[in-house]
Amino acid sequence: MKERVLHILKSAQRISGEEICRQLNISRTAVWKHIKTLKQEGYQIDTQPRLGYQLLKTPDCLYPAEVKAGLETTFIGQKLFHFAQLSSTNDYAKELARDGGAEGAVVVTEAQVGGKGRLGRQWHSVAGEDVALSVLLYPNISPMETPKFSMLAAVAVAKGIEQTCGIKAAIKWPNDLLINGKKVCGILVEMGAEMDRVKYVVLGIGINVNSTPEMWSEDIKYKTTSVKEQNGQPINRVKLVQNLLAQLEALYLLCRERGFAPILEEWCKWCVSLNCQAKVETINGNFTGWVEGIDDSGSLLLRLKDGSVKTFTSGEVSLRL
Ligand code: BTN
Repeated sequence: MKERVLHILKSAQRISGEEICRQLNISRTAVWKHIKTLKQEGYQIDTQPRLGYQLLKTPDCLYPAEVKAGLETTFIGQKLFHFAQLSSTNDYAKELARDGGAEGAVVVTEAQVGGKGRLGRQWHSVAGEDVALSVLLYPNISPMETPKFSMLAAVAVAKGIEQTCGIKAAIKWPNDLLINGKKVCGILVEMGAEMDRVKYVVLGIGINVNSTPEMWSEDIKYKTTSVKEQNGQPINRVKLVQNLLAQLEALYLLCRERGFAPILEEWCKWCVSLNCQAKVETINGNFTGWVEGIDDSGSLLLRLKDGSVKTFTSGEVSLRL
């Protein structure tokens, strides 16, 4: 009901409490309570005794009511869980999966305080400035195929950023997004699986959106950027999330219909880590060589000094351009 009050406020210049009661068939007290909650959430609403209410300002928050208004998807993001603070959106999405949460459910938080990165690292998002979200999916795939979804997510983020502000990010294998050589987005894919079947996949996406260098810790500052830093002006986070979710849904449906090949084709267009000298760090050691390409499943093919070609399904690539 609160969302409906907000919708009415957004579509009118100023509107009386009585008129809201009439349109929604609720009491004056109920209207007053919803207005009070909206104000607590940061909506600036001018209240005049006889003239009624006027919405003056919408807060820069990823509230479901904001993201869902104008969200061009049929299922991704249609169920949206928003938290002022959360340890990790991925952990929450995994709990949802275990409780049979809907496909396409999205978990988003303003302040992620225990963000997880790839290879056991931490991920820091700046509260109220960046985006930390997770998407729950139930693809019909084997556990070996999960990395494909991290590549699919990387393409969706690249396209979502370009659609929002025109900036072209580059993908570094398997799923880091860089702008001018600095990291702007990281993706962590987690899954629940049986021996030969994936039960669920969680796509965890962290984008540095409106944070600025003084907000980043010294150890990551030199290799980090944000969309705002590159764009020169703030980014509308709601718009970015809407675009990203729409791109994600389109690619996911394409993958369901035609397989991974068209996704990989798109991915290659955005990728910067092909045909170059690179170091690949893995839990089994570091390897340097020439990146020959990517195989059909998205694994990296590195030609080593001895001429042999090594296949990587995970690892951290440093480019020697
Ligand atoms: C990386 O190491 O590059 C991956 C970072 C992934 C961070 C995102 S933020 C949303 C989601 N929740 C998490 O705890 N991690 C992912």
